[in-house]
Amino acid sequence: MSSSHHWISGVIIVSTVLAVDGFNGYYNFNVEHCHFSSWDLSDLEYIASYVFNKAEFIRFNSTVGKFVGYTELGVHNAEIWNKDPAKQAQMKARKDTYCKGNVQLANYAILTKKVEPKVRLSMGKASTGGHPAVLMCSAYNFYPKLIKVTWNRDGQEITGNVISSEELADGDWYYQIHSHLEFTPKAGEKISCVVEHISLRDPLEITWDPSMPEPERNKIAIGAAALVLGLIVTAAGFIYKPRSRGL
Ligand SMILES: *[C@@H]1O[C@H](CO)[C@@H](O)[C@H](O)[C@H]1NC(C)=O
Repeated sequence: MSSSHHWISGVIIVSTVLAVDGFNGYYNFNVEHCHFSSWDLSDLEYIASYVFNKAEFIRFNSTVGKFVGYTELGVHNAEIWNKDPAKQAQMKARKDTYCKGNVQLANYAILTKKVEPKVRLSMGKASTGGHPAVLMCSAYNFYPKLIKVTWNRDGQEITGNVISSEELADGDWYYQIHSHLEFTPKAGEKISCVVEHISLRDPLEITWDPSMPEPERNKIAIGAAALVLGLIVTAAGFIYKPRSRGL
């Protein structure tokens, strides 16, 4: 999982000053970020930005190790602050005192979460030409994003004729993914979808049951029930009629 990229920014607003001049508002704020993309925090970076009227004019970047100014005022301030040993020591310590602890909390709260995918296998519509059958394997509501969906025929991985979507963000931290397999069904073969995810101890394998798909089964069941009901009503009518005539 170390290859997956987690970009978390811890943000606190340190100070906010709003100055109003007639109808013009000036907005000044400082913001501190902690950036990292590895589990061991070896690339942890502390950034302090100073912004006036939406324009960042000075920034401390822990990787650079000093202030850099972007405007005349910023360059002037950077020169002064970079010469101040107390300010330098304070900024350099922020990475450890502010970032480390907060990032570890964020890591624990967010990155350790794992939610198992719900997997569904269904028969799709075949595209024109090519193979007559299409199976769709859908995994829903899993977290984190990294997942592997593959297909097996009699225990052997099928490599061709597989089209997969990206991991699609649901917008609520969960993801879904859909993999299509086009194939020509053969009697006695066993087709299955295999899902691997960090939340699962073992790969989840779902085998396609070539017997009738559920909607078809339901339609037949409803049809049969209606037929039986119709027969009962008809029979009741035959039984009832002679009696009513007799009265
Ligand atoms: C901080 O500085 C390093 C080295 O120049 C650079 O690679 C990195 O992108 C900078 N980070 C930000 C957020 O500006």
